[in-house]
Amino acid sequence: MQGLAGIKVPVHESDQVCPIHHVHMVYGDKFPQPFCEKCQHEKTLEEKKQFDRINTVKIARGDLRRVSLVDNVSEYNHTFDNFKAVQGSKEWQMKEAARKLAGKYFKDRTAQFNSIMYGTPGEGKTHLAMAMLNAVNQFSEPPQKCLFINVTSLFLAIKDSFDNPLERWTEKYAVKTLSNADLLVIDDLGSESAMSAKKGEASQFVQRILYQVTNRQHRIIVTTNLTLSELRQTYNPKLISRLLAGSKGKQLDFSGIQDKRY
Ligand SMILES: Nc1ncnc2c1ncn2[C@@H]1O[C@H](COP(=O)(O)OP(=O)(O)O)[C@@H](O)[C@H]1O
Ligand SMILES: [Mg+2]
Ligand SMILES: [Zn+2]
Repeated sequence: MQGLAGIKVPVHESDQVCPIHHVHMVYGDKFPQPFCEKCQHEKTLEEKKQFDRINTVKIARGDLRRVSLVDNVSEYNHTFDNFKAVQGSKEWQMKEAARKLAGKYFKDRTAQFNSIMYGTPGEGKTHLAMAMLNAVNQFSEPPQKCLFINVTSLFLAIKDSFDNPLERWTEKYAVKTLSNADLLVIDDLGSESAMSAKKGEASQFVQRILYQVTNRQHRIIVTTNLTLSELRQTYNPKLISRLLAGSKGKQLDFSGIQDKRY
């Protein structure tokens, strides 16, 4: 008999027969209670399968923190629960709208539509986008791979990859990773444009990446401090119309909310 560690253990045949496999059970000096080797083998296989299943789920859920690019790691803690909103206020309306959208992405993993949250800084757009991801990430069964990408962090990482061979965020890796997520947040679109050589012109490679990603990825949540018309001036209008594809009724205008930064 194969012991648990794969070591041969001497066993003796018992008179008892397994009711399932109709073979004689066995027992050993250390385990006098007769058991069926076939049952034992099946049990081990089932346990291994269960272990793999749990691990796959853990890995998929862990992607959010392992793969994402955030401006500040504290952003992972943004949830609907810690988003304060007085009932009836604009904050409350945005929270309810974001919750509804998260529900749609959560319930139907094949639903293909983008969402956009726009306004001025400090209104809670990034907070609610992360809250949506956290909710979908936590509750989806089987899990959905959720990815949060801050555009400036992506811009800096890819720039770094040009002369740092250890940087994993190459243009190719970015396109693949962003395209393969089940739900993607593109945070602070336009923020990187201020870093470009020519102010106002979004860096060519971020634009190129997003263009390729929007080809295959149709579940994107965008946050931006630009207006929709500023977005069209900053980026190739074709990219913007792709990003806004299917976002009718999913465009959340945060303007009017007080800046929560201090
Ligand atoms: N309604 C809110 N309740 C709790 N914290 C909030 C709320 N709105 C914004 N914040 C916090 O204020 C800061 C700025 O919000 P953020 O979501 O980054 O704004 P935006 O992305 O619109 O510029 C964050 O730390 C965020 O957690
Ligand atoms: Mg933001
Ligand atoms: Zn058996």
